[in-house]
Amino acid sequence: MPKTKEAEAGPAAPGDAGDLILPVDQQAASLKSKDLLGIEYLDADEIQLILDTAHHFKEISQRPIKKVPTLRGKSVINLFFEPSTRTRTSFEIAAKRLSADTQTISASTSSMVKGETLIDTARNIEAMYPDLLIIRHAFPGAAHMLARTCSAAVINAGDGAHEHPTQALLDALTIRDHKGSIEGLRVVICGDIAHSRVARSNIHCLRKLGATVVVAAPPTLMPCDVEALGVEAFDRLEPALEGADVVMTLRIQLERGGKLSFPSTREYFNLFGLSRDKLALAKDDVIVMHPGPMNRGVEIASDVADGPASVILEQVSNGLAVRMAVLYLLAGVGAAKKNVETAA
Ligand code: MLT
Repeated sequence: MPKTKEAEAGPAAPGDAGDLILPVDQQAASLKSKDLLGIEYLDADEIQLILDTAHHFKEISQRPIKKVPTLRGKSVINLFFEPSTRTRTSFEIAAKRLSADTQTISASTSSMVKGETLIDTARNIEAMYPDLLIIRHAFPGAAHMLARTCSAAVINAGDGAHEHPTQALLDALTIRDHKGSIEGLRVVICGDIAHSRVARSNIHCLRKLGATVVVAAPPTLMPCDVEALGVEAFDRLEPALEGADVVMTLRIQLERGGKLSFPSTREYFNLFGLSRDKLALAKDDVIVMHPGPMNRGVEIASDVADGPASVILEQVSNGLAVRMAVLYLLAGVGAAKKNVETAA
């Protein structure tokens, strides 16, 4: 990736407005809600604001010293009650690059193993005055419950099969980087639609930004009311792929019941795995995405995952920028200004 002017110049002095690297009109911007609970609750302008802010934050990770003082003095607590590599690490690095103090609590090291409820855990954490709580939990609605109980800003890092908003935002940023705009694109999401929070958040996000969203899955992995979300549904992959600009493949969510939905992984791969032959039905400049973790030879062939159309690792890099943007918009200058105005 070519270095920007700012990257060549190196880091600005702490406290310098240049540290924010945001256009002046974006420096005091914020989201309407104190929390980020799902894409369903954002409007298109808020999504664009997050993407534009993330675009500017990307540059920080290209610098030799990858840290700005933007959230100095703010505390961020990661509550991860489900396994995660990318999302947890990405939130931790994002908070650290903005100079926030971070603490991660996982299921096995929390008092929930001793029988404490999530609300009691949250109330005890809130008594230590954190500014931001990031939660991943197996129960849909867990982040909403926390947001109602706590005055800190809450970010949903995945709640069961419900929503995973920062994943959809990083996917949108990656698509925008490659295609210029999301409006009018044909985006195919294939795999375990029924159990996927990534699918749900992406459907909301891409439709709000003007894409046509097509979903493809075996009937056992397709929600019965999926068309109500405004998508076109296929029970075969090939017709869905015709003319696609973007193909997003999803992992089978074994932990949410996905494994009972087809006879064998070999049959699944033959019918729904993204192979080079199937991908040839899409447009020549198609891009291939996967939220990870990826099961090679199940939902995607290795030569597609590592092939020229794949943008899977760019998704991970963009995840960092998106999470920095979300942390900034919920706890930075704009959020503080909004809170003062609300109190007045
Ligand atoms: C998620 O947390 O939902 C992941 O990003 C996707 C997956 O687990 O398959």
